Amino acid sequence: MIILGIETSCDETAVAIIDGDKPVGARILSSLVLSQLEEHRAFGGVVPEVAARAHIDHIHPLITGALQDANLTFDDLDGIAATCGPGLIGGVMIGMMAGKAIAAAKNLPFIAVNHLEGHALTPRLTDDTAFPYLLLLVSGGHTQILIAEGVGSYKRWGTTLDDAAGECFDKSAKLMGLPYPGGPEIQKIAAQCKDPAAALKRFPLPTPMKGRKELDFSFSGLKTAVRQSVEKLPAGDLNRNDIADLSHAFQHTVAEIIADRCARSIERFKSEYKINTPTLVVSGGVAANIAIREKLKQMCETHSIKTYAPPVSLCGDNAAMIAWAGYEHLKTGKSDPLDFKARPRWPLDPSAAPRHGAGVKA
Ligand code: KG4
Ligand code: ZN
Repeated sequence: MIILGIETSCDETAVAIIDGDKPVGARILSSLVLSQLEEHRAFGGVVPEVAARAHIDHIHPLITGALQDANLTFDDLDGIAATCGPGLIGGVMIGMMAGKAIAAAKNLPFIAVNHLEGHALTPRLTDDTAFPYLLLLVSGGHTQILIAEGVGSYKRWGTTLDDAAGECFDKSAKLMGLPYPGGPEIQKIAAQCKDPAAALKRFPLPTPMKGRKELDFSFSGLKTAVRQSVEKLPAGDLNRNDIADLSHAFQHTVAEIIADRCARSIERFKSEYKINTPTLVVSGGVAANIAIREKLKQMCETHSIKTYAPPVSLCGDNAAMIAWAGYEHLKTGKSDPLDFKARPRWPLDPSAAPRHGAGVKA
């Protein structure tokens, strides 16, 4: 089955075509991602109205381009999948309406995809990971520990009580005078840290929630500590070595917090799901971070559990993951009506109890 996927929930306009019946490695027939970084950089973050207008400008040429790259026409498609939430609603509407229009014109099934499920199912697109698996979903808007039990079936074991990990990277980067998006910038400058051990002593940052029995996260205290550290540095233009040290300490601390929460989840996963080869999957934009990937790999080795992170190019927002999620749903016989309403909030596990402070992110 050949599916065209559309992703417009944040600041990336993306269109991809996949053939889900092909083996791993041969499924993605085309995948275009147009990042709006330059449009938003001046504001230090994503401006919803600017994003929505940019999606309008880019969506049509990207759809044409994705078909050309795959050497296909609309007549070759078996279904259209579009992100219908959660996300910035103006942008979501644009991708969703474009998808519905193609589905209506070509009489194709339309699949309304939950953006989070796109991230959650990526390891099946790229690695055929079998259900159930333990999933750490770390992105700019979400930080959750879930069990992926099946297509459309998730249990949420933990979530952030305040900022998402990617949000913490972005806000901390801003405090250090680094451009948006902060994650890749912090990773880049942290690599220039000359004495990592000394940097950790110089900037001892807090590790909120570490060691706690619940599987939740908290990152806002870490961001505050970064602000206080920056305020203690000499006034004026920040010295590059100072920022490299602080970035290293920050990245190391985020990795520590995440590894601690995942280690606890692994123990629970092993005892509740008695699987021969349990797997921890990490996905979402922050999963591109090399230090976090390495830390999780080491931790999983000591816990005798397989770990898997998708290729870096498929960690951040893309449409191949949306097309794949559409394929997985369509294979189970599910498609959606053309009056499906966009959802600014759309939890993967609607039955999960709300957490104090987690509010909109849960
Ligand atoms: O999944 P994603 O592309 O969009 C959302 O669904 O949120 O994630 C974007 C987030 C941003 O906060 C960005 O700073 C972060 O992922 N990110 C990283 C890295 N690359 C992207 N964070 C840490 N290290 C990276 N290398
Ligand atoms: Zn995302």
